[in-house]
Parts: sequence; structure tokens; C-alpha cells
Amino acid sequence: MNELVLPNDTNTLGNLMGGRLLHFMDICAAIAAQRHSHRTVVTASVDSVDFRAAVRLGEVVVLEATVTRAFTTSMEVWIEVWAEDNATGERRHCNRAYYTFVAVDQSGRPIPVPPLEPETEAERERFEAAARRRELRLVLAGRLRLEDAADLRQHLDALALAPPREDGGRG
Ligand SMILES: CC(C)(COP(=O)(O)OP(=O)(O)OC[C@H]1O[C@@H](n2cnc3c(N)ncnc32)[C@H](O)[C@@H]1OP(=O)(O)O)[C@@H](O)C(=O)NCCC(=O)NCCS
Repeated sequence: MNELVLPNDTNTLGNLMGGRLLHFMDICAAIAAQRHSHRTVVTASVDSVDFRAAVRLGEVVVLEATVTRAFTTSMEVWIEVWAEDNATGERRHCNRAYYTFVAVDQSGRPIPVPPLEPETEAERERFEAAARRRELRLVLAGRLRLEDAADLRQHLDALALAPPREDGGRG
């Protein structure tokens, strides 16, 4: 999806406002979830979003969203954002985030979505990791107890057991 940054989208510095960018991201990610499920979808959560680089007035916001995994009624969507300079055609990476959408019926009740089959190695890695990301966001939302988050706990245990790296980190 492409969006041109117009004066009404910017702050007093002439940069795209964060809320406007989140709006573009929500729409782009929702379209990916709708295309997968062929259902109406609602945003259930957005994982942490870092605004790494400003997008300037007159630039084109380029958004690319992919469904990484479908669960029962929810879908995780990975979205990446670039700013494109019209004069040079160069793109800067600005933003990335995971969104979760839930397919709903006309009364707003969650309904099942088709499964997603990952094909490439990168898709398979993101698919596998989606299970623990889902558990983490449900734990943080108070919808799942940490002791019931099996994938997440297994991952945290593996990190704790991993030997420290040279920079002092683990895993
Ligand atoms: C999202 C929503 C449909 C969930 O409905 P619910 O009755 O609480 O549904 P359930 O507890 O049965 O959960 C349904 C799915 O939502 C997922 N879900 C619920 N809360 C979530 C959260 N905070 N983060 C990620 N997923 C969540 C569940 O994991 C479940 O997925 P699964 O079926 O694939 O396992 C409901 O809370 C809602 O309508 N929220 C408002 C949505 C909205 O207006 N969005 C725009 C915000 S401005």
C-alpha cells in the first residue's frame, strides 16, 4: 500500500504524525488479514511500535503487510514501513510491528479463520515464533496465565540456559 504524505498529515516540523502512520499501518495490516480470512476483521492488539525515522511531507509511505500465522479466530500480521523520496526514489526503513486481528461475524463475535501454510524457511521461522508472541501478548493483556504459556516458557527457559555471548547477552 502507498500513501502520499500531505500537509494535513504532518506536525509543525513537517513530519508525518505518529498517529496518522499507525492509521495507515492498521489499514494495510487489516487488508492482509481480510484477504486471508475473507471476513470482517477487528484489531485486537498492536505490539510495540518504534518510530525509527521521520517521514517527511511529500514523501511516499510504502507499507507491506503479511499474515504470519492464523490461529483459531485470530491472525498475526507482520508489517514493515518505508519512506520513499520522490526525487531520488530511495527508500528508508522507518517502522515495523506485529498486529493481531480477529475475524468477526455481523454481531462482532469471533469466527474461525482458515489455517495458513508457511512455504519458505523465513515464513516457517516467523510462523513457529508466532505461537510464543501470541502467548506473550495474551499474558500481557491478562488473558493468559504465564504458567499456561507453554511455548513462551519453553523459549524463556532455553534463553536462560543458553551460554552467554561475548557481548554479555544470551541466545
Ligand atoms: C478482539 C475481540 C473480538 C476479542 O473478542 P473476545 O470475545 O474477547 O474473544 P475471545 O476471548 O474468544 O478471543 C478471540 C480471539 O482474540 C484473541 N485475542 C483477544 N484479545 C487479544 C489481545 N489482546 N491480543 C491478541 N489477541 C487477542 C484471542 O487470542 C482469540 O484468538 P484465537 O481464537 O485465535 O485463539 C474483542 O475484544 C473486540 O471486539 N475488541 C474490540 C476490537 C476493536 O474495536 N478494535 C479496534 C480498536 S480501536
